[in-house]
Amino acid sequence: MSFTPFDLEYTQSKWEQIVEFNLTESGVHPISLEELLDGDESKITDLLKTEINYPHVNGIPELRENIARLYEGANGEKNVLVTVGAAEANYIILQTLLEPGDELATLTPTYKQAWGVAANRGHVVRPFHLRSEYGWSLDIDELNAQVNERTKIIAIVNPNNPTGYIMSEAEMAAVIAAAERVGAWILADEVYRGAERLQEAETPSFYGRYDKVLAVGSMSKAYGLPGLRVGWVVGPVATVEEIWRRHEYTTITATMLSNHLAAHALSPEVRPRLIQRARDYIRHGYPVLEAWMEEQEGLFSYTPPLASAVTFVRYHLETNSTELMEILCREASVFVGAGDSFGMDHHLRIAFGQEEALLNEAFGRIQRTLERLRG
Ligand SMILES: Cc1ncc(COP(=O)(O)O)c(C=O)c1O
Repeated sequence: MSFTPFDLEYTQSKWEQIVEFNLTESGVHPISLEELLDGDESKITDLLKTEINYPHVNGIPELRENIARLYEGANGEKNVLVTVGAAEANYIILQTLLEPGDELATLTPTYKQAWGVAANRGHVVRPFHLRSEYGWSLDIDELNAQVNERTKIIAIVNPNNPTGYIMSEAEMAAVIAAAERVGAWILADEVYRGAERLQEAETPSFYGRYDKVLAVGSMSKAYGLPGLRVGWVVGPVATVEEIWRRHEYTTITATMLSNHLAAHALSPEVRPRLIQRARDYIRHGYPVLEAWMEEQEGLFSYTPPLASAVTFVRYHLETNSTELMEILCREASVFVGAGDSFGMDHHLRIAFGQEEALLNEAFGRIQRTLERLRG
């Protein structure tokens, strides 16, 4: 069977450690261990005494409890499985649910993990769009047309990567109605929950709104802890058990230290500080990007993101997006995501969850390259 690489992650592997300015990271600037622990002497002592054993394979109880608190009606004992990032959660969910002949319906543009994994396993993938011409709102007619009796999973990313769009209540209801009509699962990748830009309320989860929901979360985005490699799935007990059986084959478990650090970060005392930190980056960073785009005299069209530290902008140049991304890496040492990685050429995904001085320097460099390309 042919294999299609995960284009976005492949380009990140290739460029992110080489360039001076990495504006592809969809979370905010990562937090240091020192800032996370914030002088909490008893926590530091506990961590130093921790034996680096295998932790509970499904996540230490304290972490599962803290995760369950984020989902109304979820029980940390039964409904939560801790994984190595949302990446593992998504992968083993697909491995568990997809059987020969099953189809996957997916939102687009999107983080194309579910799409790529399903396609590489030989499944038909049917996209339905968020429409840029309508402020990235969901094309509900297309959703309904793409979901059929063979659809096993409807995969959505909400808040969305790359657009930062948050679905309305009506759009969430439409996704649930489409799933209910054919008995499909909803794979709700909600890793940007908490990273809202304009609203204080956190994006509601799909969990608890329909029986067949698997909600995926992560420490990587709204908490600034991508290097912990901790994610999770929350779902019905029997299905979580089945996914857990795949987890034992895949990674066995996340690490002992990352379980403890994630439990600390998600504790009711610490979590609000981390969410506020992410929102501060997002809320200060986006206006810097927008002001710069406005100065570019019609080069960009865009809908401001509602959440996340990235936005997906259309640029009005002939150059193909992968080519442009590579030119920017080579000439300006600035790395931005190519629209091609999300199935939409002539777009760039630009991250802005960084310090203002860094953003200004990076945008200045992009500008010099764009000026040369525009002649
Ligand atoms: C929508 C989405 N899901 C999952 C992931 C993977 O996250 P993790 O670092 O938790 O594996 C990413 C990373 O960019 C993402 O954007």
